[in-house]
Amino acid sequence: MMDTVTDLVRCVALVGVVVALLSLLRSRRAGARLPPGPPASLWSGASYIPTQHPWRKLKEYTDTYGDLVTVQLGHGRHLFVCGTATSADAILNKQSGATNGRPHLIMAGDLLSGGKRLLIIDHGDRFRKYRKIMHESLNNTVAVNYEGIQEKEATLTLEAIGQDPGNFRRQFGRYAASAIMTITYDHPVRSLDDPLVVRVNECLGALGEWINPAASPLDSYPILRYVPTAINPWKKLGERLHKRELNLFLEVYRDVRRQAQAGKAQTCFASQLQERQQEYGLSDEEACYVAGSLFGAGSDTTASALAIFVMAMITHPRVMKKAQEELDRVVGPGRLPAFSDFDDLVYVRALCQEVSRWRPVSSGGFRHSLTEDVHYKGFVLPKGSAVVGNHWSIHLDPQEYPNPDEFKPERFLSDDGASVKGTWFSPKGHYQFGFGRRVCVGSNVAERSIFINAAMLLWALDMRAPNNDVASVDTLAFNSAANSHPLPFDADIKYRSERHKAVVQEARSSID
Ligand code: HEM
Repeated sequence: MMDTVTDLVRCVALVGVVVALLSLLRSRRAGARLPPGPPASLWSGASYIPTQHPWRKLKEYTDTYGDLVTVQLGHGRHLFVCGTATSADAILNKQSGATNGRPHLIMAGDLLSGGKRLLIIDHGDRFRKYRKIMHESLNNTVAVNYEGIQEKEATLTLEAIGQDPGNFRRQFGRYAASAIMTITYDHPVRSLDDPLVVRVNECLGALGEWINPAASPLDSYPILRYVPTAINPWKKLGERLHKRELNLFLEVYRDVRRQAQAGKAQTCFASQLQERQQEYGLSDEEACYVAGSLFGAGSDTTASALAIFVMAMITHPRVMKKAQEELDRVVGPGRLPAFSDFDDLVYVRALCQEVSRWRPVSSGGFRHSLTEDVHYKGFVLPKGSAVVGNHWSIHLDPQEYPNPDEFKPERFLSDDGASVKGTWFSPKGHYQFGFGRRVCVGSNVAERSIFINAAMLLWALDMRAPNNDVASVDTLAFNSAANSHPLPFDADIKYRSERHKAVVQEARSSID
């Protein structure tokens, strides 16, 4: 046994030396043509990226080195950071065909997700197939079909917040879980204690932990993946976590099939997928992951965006009042706003765009990888490297958004205030949903969720900072997760009048 361990250690050390030498040669060869960036530590060969709010440090690098920064990741690997809309558009959008890969993640991608989670799949046939399937059910035309679900869930959320304003964050969590579970499996969620949601969240907790490449020795030292599972604790763990998730996704996917066969299921993403599963050439294991991945990608993100909306409202009372004036004019006092008001609620729509711009949920962006060499301003970014659009620095760039820290929907209004406009680089006015061929496939659903909740909450409720002290709310207090959430904050939330309350309660009572 001792001999085996010694051999293994020698083997790992030898391969390590070879990899280090090759990396050194590669970085020397490419170094002269790379964009500038922060120095690497002599010890690790990596530039400094903090674990807390890494996107804020990367913004500092952009301010220091320019719109495209080279960050050393160690072992001769590079991360190119697009810190402005100009570099992000030129690299991640205009050269999307060469930038649509994902960095290889052994623990979170190969093992935990069994290579089947779209967010982590590299470019290739499976990537194209999964995206096509999701796009067919989530594009802007089809997303209209989910508006009924979203209006109903937003009404329930509004009424619950009216009753128990202190728990508004939990209600947003329930909204997001229920909307996505109903769309995916026709499974409405009435409480976050729903056993299915609890189990899915356990799996997602593990994913959140291991998706950080620095968290797993397998990703830091990929050679370790060749150590057999029997003596490899990380592989053992990854395989166990995958089994748990796969069993859960299979169980709920097959349950939809049983309901459909019994003629009991409403049409949902999973039932539609089952109808076309053979045509797509998908096994149950693959298909259940396509459906199962939606919750992870769409639930936590939506809940955070709604919390950011409240944070913006309590710190910008002028904006809240202006939106309420529009709602009073367009909707009137006798009913809740609905999607049918969308075209007329110009200010509310601009406000929703500003929510996405002001504090982007995926603040640091998601890394892509280069499938070919990419050219930008005379630099050549080598194939295989990672590249990221830093949402934080792009969205807070004063060149694109004057006074970027100010929450100001007017920046997205046309001169006459009659329509909503985007920016030169995006009709949405921001990059909250990412870039190129990797852009969020659920953005049409997400935007509708933000709109209908914002419209209903603004119509019915006044939202204020505790004791009207706007300065007491720290609008930079967020956690450091990839999908970043505001840290807990208080809001003083009340019905605007007894009449508003009665309309909300009546709307709620018509929902079973
Ligand atoms: C406010 C809510 C949301 C935000 C901020 C958000 C943001 C993002 C971002 C930044 C990406 C990565 C883009 C890139 O790599 O450049 C992404 C990918 C993705 N999103 Fe969303 N998202 C939201 C809601 C949703 C919803 C509701 C769904 C599903 C119904 C969804 C499904 C996905 C999927 C499947 C991917 C992976 C796409 C790929 O890797 O090709 N998202 N999202």
